[in-house]
Amino acid sequence: MSAEATEKYAIPQGFENAHAGPGDYTRLYAESIDDPDAFWGREGKRLDWITPYTKVKNTDFTFGNVSIKWFEDGQLNVAANCIDRHLATRGDQTAIIFEPDSPDDEAQHITYRHLGEQVNRMANVLRDMGVKKGDRVVLYLPMIPEAAYAMLACARIGAIHSIVFAGFSPDALSNRINDSGANILITADEAPRGGRKTALKSNADQALLGCSDRVKCLVVKHTGGQTTWTEGRDIDLRALMAEASTDCEPEAMNAEDPLFVLYTSGSTGKPKGVVHTTGGYLVFAAMTHQYTFDYHDGDIYWCTADVGWVTGHSYIVYGPLANGATTLMFEGVPTYPDAGRFWEVCAKHKVNQFYTAPTAIRALMGKGKEFVEKHDLSSLRLLGTVGEPINPEAWNWYNEHVGKGKCPIVDTWWQTETGGHLITPLPGATETKPGSATVPFFGVKPEILDAESAKVQEGNPAEGVLCIADSWPGQMRTVWGDHQRFMETYFQQYPGYYFTGDGCRRDEDGYYWITGRVDDVINVSGHRMGTAEVESALVAHEQVAEAAVVGYPHSVKGQGIYAYVTLMNGIEPSEDLRKELVKWVRSEIGPIASPDLIQWAPGLPKTRSGKIMRRILRKIAENDYGALGDTSTLAEPEVVDDLIANRMNKG
Ligand code: WTA
Repeated sequence: MSAEATEKYAIPQGFENAHAGPGDYTRLYAESIDDPDAFWGREGKRLDWITPYTKVKNTDFTFGNVSIKWFEDGQLNVAANCIDRHLATRGDQTAIIFEPDSPDDEAQHITYRHLGEQVNRMANVLRDMGVKKGDRVVLYLPMIPEAAYAMLACARIGAIHSIVFAGFSPDALSNRINDSGANILITADEAPRGGRKTALKSNADQALLGCSDRVKCLVVKHTGGQTTWTEGRDIDLRALMAEASTDCEPEAMNAEDPLFVLYTSGSTGKPKGVVHTTGGYLVFAAMTHQYTFDYHDGDIYWCTADVGWVTGHSYIVYGPLANGATTLMFEGVPTYPDAGRFWEVCAKHKVNQFYTAPTAIRALMGKGKEFVEKHDLSSLRLLGTVGEPINPEAWNWYNEHVGKGKCPIVDTWWQTETGGHLITPLPGATETKPGSATVPFFGVKPEILDAESAKVQEGNPAEGVLCIADSWPGQMRTVWGDHQRFMETYFQQYPGYYFTGDGCRRDEDGYYWITGRVDDVINVSGHRMGTAEVESALVAHEQVAEAAVVGYPHSVKGQGIYAYVTLMNGIEPSEDLRKELVKWVRSEIGPIASPDLIQWAPGLPKTRSGKIMRRILRKIAENDYGALGDTSTLAEPEVVDDLIANRMNKG
């Protein structure tokens, strides 16, 4: 038995009245699997429906035929569920606490009533511009209240939002506007982060050069910074909102109408538009938010993600607001003005639940515990992590210094595609183990399959690829505009299952340990990236002939980006060129895709049929040559020796 399998942390005191206790979990989980119609039929009632559903689950994972529908004959409106239904009882309660980048600027407390007015004003602006149910609206915004208003304004009139993370380049933005077919872009003049400002509007200007002339640009004048203005195309959003009515009739949406499209990276090709729909998604986001974080009325809840990622969608905006929670939106970064900012904000707003990424914990751990100890963290009841496996050192530091040994840690495993948590502890029901996401959420049936034989691995322990045997309400429904790609990506390789792309181990106690991606997706600081995207950015540079990109272990980021680059004939490698290529990738995709290491590769290891052997490149980057495996099938085995001899990151 491995050491990890035995070391369990008991449920801390204070969770006796949690939404799920130990007995509840076993009972409810069994019911959710045995009778999903009864279980989810009941859970669906947590929302207000305009037309109640009579059908609950109608799903098929058969390749060629994949179809996922939940609550399919019900009608509802997401904004009405996140705002209107709370107004009678909590109109004056804070819905959103906005904490600006600079601690010198004052925080804003936005009540449910004010939120409703702002959302309706923005919804009316969009309606007046001709935006209708089913139209797409792209959002490219800082972490400011308008980001939440815009999401909910779209939901109110039935438009489909697609958020592009503000760290993405003009090119990436342009591609997403075009793929989604949006005619409206909502952006801001500038995005302040860590005391620096990103020129969002000027990025948007550049992006729009590659889009149809029809696209209009609504601009939030946030910092008041200088921007160029294109008459007839650019519109001052706040000015229009000020004149718009605060009444706006919500559109009755079918449960299966799309709520949003969010682009995410896969192993091949361009990022895919993950489509989430209205009813099932909101039920699942609200339920997981309530149970996983043991959210109770009056709690102050903070998720440090950005709305540009799925975590921001489900756990800053939709889940918390559907539950009538107070959710904190933070514009800044963990290390500005110093490495105590998170804890200063927790103390200032008396945060009860705090949810962040392992990479942030590791970065702060490196700065020393003094930054934590300066602040009063006695309000914290629960801590969460998401985005990548958390190493036990970081888990223990989080537990000891932030949670003071009294807060359960929920290590939540999920994906853009899953809409919400699939494997996670429930704080009142699950004993935890550092580094394990523990056990499945209600209604989720994980299976570990052998990667080659596709056989289900019964019993414990087991290891293989992680698949899910049946649907849950928060599951993505399709890839925007390409259902075939949806089926091929997730349902072809292991017939009858949703394939997650993650490797996984189940220990003697039945606890799940995610071991990382088994495909060509890497996870850098919790940001998901396709190696193929970075490669295609590199080869777009005129001096690059060929490139292969892999992940390697990085002490803070989890994974770093390691690029092997073959230059065009006659081009000499140099430090300047290395810097230029890093800059090039930043401008093609965004700073999150910057290669950490670039190795000049006179040749890349290929099979005789010309396929790059990434397995070998990965091993070299990981400094694990003992396990290179069979290289005899290579066209030129000697290139491997050169790559090893000139490896970067020696040590
Ligand atoms: C990884 C983020 C281990 C995993 C919500 C998954 C995790 C990918 C965890 C999805 C976790 C996420 N433990 N690995 N708790 N959470 N991952 O789509 O590889 O940005 O497939 O969604 O992140 O990343 P995405």
